[in-house]
Amino acid sequence: MKQTKNTSSRRAFVKKMAVGAAVLTTAGPTILAGQSEVRQFFLAREKSRAPNDHIQIALIGAGGMGTEDAKTALQIPGVRLVAACDLYAGRLEDARQRWGSDIFTTRDYREILERSDVDAVIIGTPDHWHKQISVDALLKGKSAYCEKPMVHSISEGPAVVQAQQKSGRTYQVGSQGMSSLGNEKARELFESGAIGQLIYAEGFWARNSPVGAWQYAIPKDASAETVDWERYLSNTTRRDFDPLRFFRWRNYRDYGTGVSGDLFVHLFSSLHFITSSMGPNKVMATGGLRFWKDGREVPDVLLGMFDYPETAAHPAFNLSLRVNFVDGTSGSTYLRMVGSEGAMDVTWNDVFLRKNLTTDPMDAFMAEKADELDKALSGRKRMLPPAEAHYTVEEGYKGAHFDHFANFFNAVRNGKPAIEDAVFGYRAAAPALLCNDSYFQEKPVRWDPVKMQLG
Ligand SMILES: NC(=O)c1ccc[n+]([C@@H]2O[C@H](COP(=O)([O-])OP(=O)(O)OC[C@H]3O[C@@H](n4cnc5c(N)ncnc54)[C@H](O)[C@@H]3O)[C@@H](O)[C@H]2O)c1
Repeated sequence: MKQTKNTSSRRAFVKKMAVGAAVLTTAGPTILAGQSEVRQFFLAREKSRAPNDHIQIALIGAGGMGTEDAKTALQIPGVRLVAACDLYAGRLEDARQRWGSDIFTTRDYREILERSDVDAVIIGTPDHWHKQISVDALLKGKSAYCEKPMVHSISEGPAVVQAQQKSGRTYQVGSQGMSSLGNEKARELFESGAIGQLIYAEGFWARNSPVGAWQYAIPKDASAETVDWERYLSNTTRRDFDPLRFFRWRNYRDYGTGVSGDLFVHLFSSLHFITSSMGPNKVMATGGLRFWKDGREVPDVLLGMFDYPETAAHPAFNLSLRVNFVDGTSGSTYLRMVGSEGAMDVTWNDVFLRKNLTTDPMDAFMAEKADELDKALSGRKRMLPPAEAHYTVEEGYKGAHFDHFANFFNAVRNGKPAIEDAVFGYRAAAPALLCNDSYFQEKPVRWDPVKMQLG
């Protein structure tokens, strides 16, 4: 068996499990060893702000997620929203009602970037605008928090990476799960060898409702007057006004990135964060449009398979991901990592760790000792170490979204790169986008995750 840093630290982990087991019996299944360091680090981050250290933000794309992003950002002490941009009049009216009629509002994001009172922008537009607004914002000296996936096509990534490098500004992509306590705990467990050698990982995202499958309500006043249709299409194919293409943009390839760009990308971000991986070198996808035959151009069932090559951080392993928008179980989501000695189910708030071995079967000394003990006790049963542990967050945890913004603003204040910067964001987006390429071209796609190049 190959020795990696995971297997070599197995014994250290077994010791930690023994300590954890003691906590489990006395204090119940709550936060175990290691979590307190994470919390102390987080509190230290929050305290590093000077009292007059305000950050002024603007929201570009004030729809569903952009609004949630801005609301979460405003929970971070010292952050103030001064402007909002959107292409639909109803969204700008909502923004004024929510944040005050004195905020600056516009349909043209370039007016936001010209303002000297804006330090950072949140980009919550559909995917086909992420690259251009990110590049323009960075080169105008603004820090930026851009929703996932970072880019709309594989060829767009280098421009954002270069703009971040050239500008020296902070850039963060919005896969908030990787800032969660759940993902931090999973990373700590993985690095301590909790599941042995990583062999296989799988993720699943299932939904079974019209809204879950992107059939959003169309506002009654939607028209070519209330929507800036020309601007919306100005970087893609020209068409006549179509409210479905504006309000249900995820269904169309000119604007969205299908279920993989919408959902797989979260799983890639978490997996890459937990394993310190740069990504797969082979991507294969299949699927189909099985149920939501409403004119959409992308599948509602997608199966992706990904080969991860060996790196210094992890052995070679396989990943399979599924999205199913026609899931009769009414939906579930998970990320599972399976190793030679156990498995972890990872969410943003919990980690379920299951061990499949309590001693190494190759360890002859331990096997002999166990035999001696069995004989000495003449058949009496033994007390076994715990085979399963459940790590969960403390009550009152503000969640992954809050933590991701805390990480972002901390990086802005300290002039440092964010946890999910342009390079990380591109490496998470790439396999999701290549999954679409593989599906539509009906062939495997090769990717170099280190150089971030095709082939
Ligand atoms: N991190 C998450 O968990 C999460 C969840 C949902 C959505 N998202 C991401 O957030 C982004 C927005 O998704 P949504 O569900 O909020 O969509 P949405 O349709 O609700 O909002 C998008 C808004 O952008 C506006 N817009 C379009 N083009 C624009 C432009 N050029 N300039 C300014 N405004 C423009 C639209 O008018 C609309 O109000 C997507 O990239 C999506 O992938 C992330």
